Amino acid sequence: MQDLLALQEEALILFARLDTPHALEEAKARYLGKSGVLTEKLKALGKLPPEARKTAGAAINQVKTALENALQNRREALAQAQLEEELRATALDVTLPGRTPGRGAAHPITRTLERVQTLFRSMGFEVAEGPEIETDANNFTALNIPEDHPARAMHDTFYLDPGHVLRTHTSPVQIRYLQAHPLPVKIIAPGRVFRCDSDVTHTPMFHQVEGLWVAEEGVSFAALKGLLIEFMRAFFEVNDLQARFRPSFFPFTEPSAEMDIGCVICGGDGCRVCSHTGWLEVLGCGLVHPKVLEPLGIDSERYIGMAFGLGVERLAMIRYGVDDLRTFYENDLRFLRRFR
Ligand code: DAH
Repeated sequence: MQDLLALQEEALILFARLDTPHALEEAKARYLGKSGVLTEKLKALGKLPPEARKTAGAAINQVKTALENALQNRREALAQAQLEEELRATALDVTLPGRTPGRGAAHPITRTLERVQTLFRSMGFEVAEGPEIETDANNFTALNIPEDHPARAMHDTFYLDPGHVLRTHTSPVQIRYLQAHPLPVKIIAPGRVFRCDSDVTHTPMFHQVEGLWVAEEGVSFAALKGLLIEFMRAFFEVNDLQARFRPSFFPFTEPSAEMDIGCVICGGDGCRVCSHTGWLEVLGCGLVHPKVLEPLGIDSERYIGMAFGLGVERLAMIRYGVDDLRTFYENDLRFLRRFR
């Protein structure tokens, strides 16, 4: 009896000390396995006289049950500890805010371009494109810009080689389109243009939208004015927007004009944006010069063309009240987020 209790004591201390399931099962085998200490004691019962056998058997079984219970408790404690360890390792804080991808937005210039295109499409214009690397011939000569014209001066134009430039305007798309399509044509050509220039109102890269409508009927200076006024009213969402056309000069149009709109900021009273004139210059336009049409084989007695070119950044600056053009291209998110 005495040594049974000692045995139980020893086993319980051992079980409590072991800290892996494997070590625990090994210890179990030592006591309760086929040739375990306790099993041997049970086997030895047969050699005892019947009376002693009964009490001894009961005592051994009691120890056996105690060990089995202790084992089971220890197993569960170890499993629980392991689970807790795993949970700690893969800790997940469900109270943290989720990681959602940041929501982007179209750049204000892209939005302005899309707005211009949508409005002109609704007025029957197709959208055409041309390359940003253009031939000197298309960018200048075909547009009746003579050799000595200031637009050809090195300080304005990025020359790539004597025959190629980064286009300084979208007007060469007029030439490309007329060469490739039968009349009538009614297109706008949005895109990037480049000039060697940088200050509050100039960046070396900016955007223009060219307009060209050549047809036998429907095209006139009056129609050009009406169309552009209608566009500006829709673009700025001002129904009674004032407009005026000042005589101007472009080599590829005759007559030529510059269009001003009544200042949308001050309503014409005069403010900083309109330099206290009440007017904002928004584009150049005119009727396509015969010297542009004739070399393309277009009979300028029969066909009449209207054209215009507007600066996208300029429209965006007015519409959004931005006073430094360069901020559009500094990629400062504090600025860009205002246009979401
Ligand atoms: N290409 C001119 C420029 O970049 C803008 C322009 C003026 C385009 C009159 C035209 C036009 O089509 O008729 O300054």
